[in-house]
Amino acid sequence: MAVSAFENVKRFFIRLGIGLMPYFPLPWEPYRKALVRDSEKRYASGRWDYMNDIAEAHRYSIIVGCCEYFTPPERRVLDVGCGDGILQQRLRYSGYVGVDMNAAAISRAQARGASGATFVVADAAQGFQAVGQFDVIVFNESLYYIRDPAAVFARCRQSLSPQGIMVVCMFRTYLARQLWKKLRAFGMEELTTVSISNELGFSSMLRVYANSRLTARAADTR
Ligand SMILES: C[S@@+](CC[C@H](N)C(=O)[O-])C[C@H]1O[C@@H](n2cnc3c(N)ncnc32)[C@H](O)[C@@H]1O
Repeated sequence: MAVSAFENVKRFFIRLGIGLMPYFPLPWEPYRKALVRDSEKRYASGRWDYMNDIAEAHRYSIIVGCCEYFTPPERRVLDVGCGDGILQQRLRYSGYVGVDMNAAAISRAQARGASGATFVVADAAQGFQAVGQFDVIVFNESLYYIRDPAAVFARCRQSLSPQGIMVVCMFRTYLARQLWKKLRAFGMEELTTVSISNELGFSSMLRVYANSRLTARAADTR
């Protein structure tokens, strides 16, 4: 489809702005709070619905692929900041717990009545404590919304099964760069790093962590 000159100029400036974000040192807490406010408005107005579009599909597919590569199909999954559960719909599991502070997103997820899945309204930074062990713990574009994200990551790690993986995906910003350094300081094995971008110019990094050097569960992925 032909794109107008105005649209091209707009896209150029959007890409430029996005490209500069990792180097622009925004103050952490005000930026985080602005993101949370924006997220709440998006749920209220339906502006998060684009997460179901093709431009976002590859992000979920890569997470599914990493889960299938490293963990068996009967995996138990904890999805922190799960939104309305798009990942849950695309992943095989024997048990799934999705937690999100947005009640509208959680009730939408609950309404699907997926078997083996539990959705909880809670702030991951306070008032939520995972019960049991998980083979996959996911922070899919959610960690940088959470207050004291490194501490929340560390607390969730205590619920990781011995052969489990933690998957973190973060949009490239200055905040995310600082956060990656903090995660690296935990000294976990980094099993893989994937760079993800879409046609709008948005780009994210995805990393898979584990407590030990896991290898492929090839037999399960065929
Ligand atoms: C960009 S959305 C990503 C949603 C989902 N992970 C996905 O990719 O489809 C970020 C999500 O994190 C949630 N969130 C933000 N802060 C949170 C917190 N402190 N505890 C739990 N969820 C939080 C928001 O409500 C929102 O649903």
